[in-house]
Amino acid sequence: MTAHQGSVFLEDAEILSHERLPGDQYLLRLRAPKCAARAQPGSFAHVRCDRLLPMRRPISIMRASAAAGWVELLYRVAGRGTHLLSEKRQGESISIMGPIGTPFRAWIDRPRALLIGGGIGIPPMIFLAERLRADPGFSPLLLAGSEAPFPVSPQPSRILVPGMPEGVIAALPLLEDMGVPSRLASLEARAGCFQGYVTDLARAWLLSLDEDARREVMVFACGPHPMLEAAAALARAFSLPCQVSMEAFMACGIGGCAGCVVEVKTPAGPAMKRVCVDGPVFDAAAVFG
Ligand code: FES
Repeated sequence: MTAHQGSVFLEDAEILSHERLPGDQYLLRLRAPKCAARAQPGSFAHVRCDRLLPMRRPISIMRASAAAGWVELLYRVAGRGTHLLSEKRQGESISIMGPIGTPFRAWIDRPRALLIGGGIGIPPMIFLAERLRADPGFSPLLLAGSEAPFPVSPQPSRILVPGMPEGVIAALPLLEDMGVPSRLASLEARAGCFQGYVTDLARAWLLSLDEDARREVMVFACGPHPMLEAAAALARAFSLPCQVSMEAFMACGIGGCAGCVVEVKTPAGPAMKRVCVDGPVFDAAAVFG
């Protein structure tokens, strides 16, 4: 193992477990102590899916244990690389670089953290929810939307969330176990889920708050571009700060190739920023105006 750029590490990571989940999704736990020690919600690992593939794939970190030295990645098979990755077995090793990227930043004067995750953007929100839950100053609520099956079967929540539309009681079991309230949305009719866009569920919750409570809210979003755009518009409509985690095609993953740039607004005018190292988390107002 060698250190890279001071805080990004290249590690041969042993596969501790690799579980197939509904919707062609996989939960991969890797022994990667250096990455685990520095991983933060929003950061990702650049994974060599197979020795035959020179290009790595960026995969968000869903959880990390610095004490036990592992990171967990949840990914969906979406091409040759992730297909080859899905065939790797417990005990094999894969090369990962990480943790990479600018993570989410919670503000202590905005303790009501509204986390909006869509599809494969849900895992970083789980990581953020877990870390915020560990700080008594914050009250996270995770709203997740997906058209593919949720990676784990939803369960009726034991945690009351005032302001939810009637009958919206489906929650993610992992979040329930952490004591973090969550609710689910889908365009399809699914038991206990809000039928519609996850951002519409978020709007319903925001409308249920009084003004003082709303002033304590900060929005965090990760998911497909249209969902991020909708989350940014929602935050703007309620005058709330919002951070979004962007997706981009990535080659090097460490800021060297400029293949992942997006235009953002800065005080000095428009600027091109690299999603891999300047992001993936950006201020929504800088990206969507
Ligand atoms: Fe090369 Fe971002 S992927 S600069």
